[in-house]
Amino acid sequence: MSDLILGISAYYHDSAVALVDGDTVVAAAQEERFTRRRHDAAFPAQAVEYCLREAGATLKDVAAVAYYEDPALKFRRVLATYAGAVPFGAASFRDTFPEWIRRKRRAGESVRRELAGLGLGPVPEVLCRRHHESHAASAFFPSPYESAAVLCIDGVGEWATTSLWHGRGDRLDPVAELHFPHSLGMLYSAFTYFCGFKVDSGEYKLMGLAPYGTPRYADVIREKLIDLKADGSFRLDMRYFEYLRGQVMTGRGFEKLFDGPRRLPESALSEREFDLAASVQEVTEEVVLRLARAAQQFTGETRLCLAGGVALNCVANGRTIREEIFEGVWVQPAAGDAGGALGAALAVAMERGATRTHLGTGHDAMSGSLLGPAYRDEEIQAYLDDAGIPYTRLDRDALAARTAVELAQGKVVGWFQDRMEFGPRALGARSILGDPRNPEMQSAMNLKIKFRESFRPFAPAVLDSDVEEYFQLKQESPYMLVVADIADARRLPAADDAGDARGLDRLKVRRSTIPAVTHVDMSARVQTVSEHANPAFHRLLTAFKAETGCPVLVNTSFNVRGEPIVRSPQEAYTCFMRTRIDVLVLGGFLLLKDDQPVWAEDGDWRDEIPLD
Ligand SMILES: [Fe+2]
Repeated sequence: MSDLILGISAYYHDSAVALVDGDTVVAAAQEERFTRRRHDAAFPAQAVEYCLREAGATLKDVAAVAYYEDPALKFRRVLATYAGAVPFGAASFRDTFPEWIRRKRRAGESVRRELAGLGLGPVPEVLCRRHHESHAASAFFPSPYESAAVLCIDGVGEWATTSLWHGRGDRLDPVAELHFPHSLGMLYSAFTYFCGFKVDSGEYKLMGLAPYGTPRYADVIREKLIDLKADGSFRLDMRYFEYLRGQVMTGRGFEKLFDGPRRLPESALSEREFDLAASVQEVTEEVVLRLARAAQQFTGETRLCLAGGVALNCVANGRTIREEIFEGVWVQPAAGDAGGALGAALAVAMERGATRTHLGTGHDAMSGSLLGPAYRDEEIQAYLDDAGIPYTRLDRDALAARTAVELAQGKVVGWFQDRMEFGPRALGARSILGDPRNPEMQSAMNLKIKFRESFRPFAPAVLDSDVEEYFQLKQESPYMLVVADIADARRLPAADDAGDARGLDRLKVRRSTIPAVTHVDMSARVQTVSEHANPAFHRLLTAFKAETGCPVLVNTSFNVRGEPIVRSPQEAYTCFMRTRIDVLVLGGFLLLKDDQPVWAEDGDWRDEIPLD
């Protein structure tokens, strides 16, 4: 009998699919990369087709389908929430309820029906796992640790908003959980909303804004909004939040506490938003640290695994590592709900007798999170030739050397190699790269290439062997989910004289020898790159170091603002031509912008891409 388990997360946001064979992750991808709708919540039909194709399998070969949450339990929570909020919630109830009846309440049946409609063979049994069990399984089972404390922190699934688990060998046992509406993810999202960003995607922007502000509202948050206990458990004062009553996160209560109405989306940012971001970030880190300490005490473990949307808060992750509560911290790269597909599949696989065979390798089981579609050089060449696109073909070493020279000359490079990343970050398979030593690079990449807000920081990718030369980080960070400070030796003395600059003006101060990836608080969101997990990217960083002496590159996702990361060579070429990317590397092919034919499209393509 087959050991293949197909995991699915769908119908909320970031629909995704993962296919596992025992504890081996065969393939995993988010549906948005196929449909080109960011955070697509639709049934992930194309991701299912892709994952099965990657395994050379049909549904007949799949032993079971694992759905990432329990729809019946979630339905009861939603019902109870609305019932408790009536009459305030009546309008919200009316708007949302038919959707629930139609799909979400019977998500298991919807999944079965949609799978049957794909015509890929008979649908095996569909099993539902709880939302936090899926997160916990995604955090522990692929981790490199034999045993660990496992913390899951997010908005909400069924009832759980925060959960602690104890992973030992092939077992994962629940220890404790906190319930809705008391949710750290919801607290963070409330401030995301209040600062004019989109809930469930703008949290990253809020985190990026925090270093520009001072946490002058942190005490108000502690006094009024959250009752935080020593063990990290907490309760929110629901009088200040609207998410039980309506379709918005905050209302008058927030306005009174935080000096007026919420910022309107896309309007100018003010000191207040910087300070709100700094304040909620400070409180979030406090909660996460207390939870981590409690996790250590409850389990007695020396390693920690993290998942759930809050585990994408890499600033909090960096603090957890710095405080040395644990000897090692591993974060699931798809820590948000997309990763639930993988966790549900692994949970079912382990129940059915799979063992964690990867433990002997010393590596995690995520293969650098490069788990999506790849394109062979023959496919890429056929596309380029058909479209009449000029290119140079090079062997891999020559390609890395040539690309390094272009980067060293200040060129921006679109870098497309091998299998696409699973999870929200680009890790060197679908990335836009630049020279971090160049002081103009940050604003140039934000404004001319990504078409996004100037304050948004960029992340460095560094050769794993050189990480401590540049960053104060003593463990690997292969998934760009840990923020660490720039090493003292790389800081510039001028940065200390920048005390007068305020708000976004602080961006203009050059703080280190790698200014394009140094945030205003002297931190960076580090990705360590190993030869084992990503040989092509490792080769390029090695070549760049040989060319310049610097083993660091700016690494940002291959897309423009509001668009999902590119999946195919065609999408990469389109993004290359629409932006000021100078060089495109597709597999073994190098394309120069100056050689390309004129790019013409009807209308302004930016009108088609919604703002994020
Ligand atoms: Fe979640």
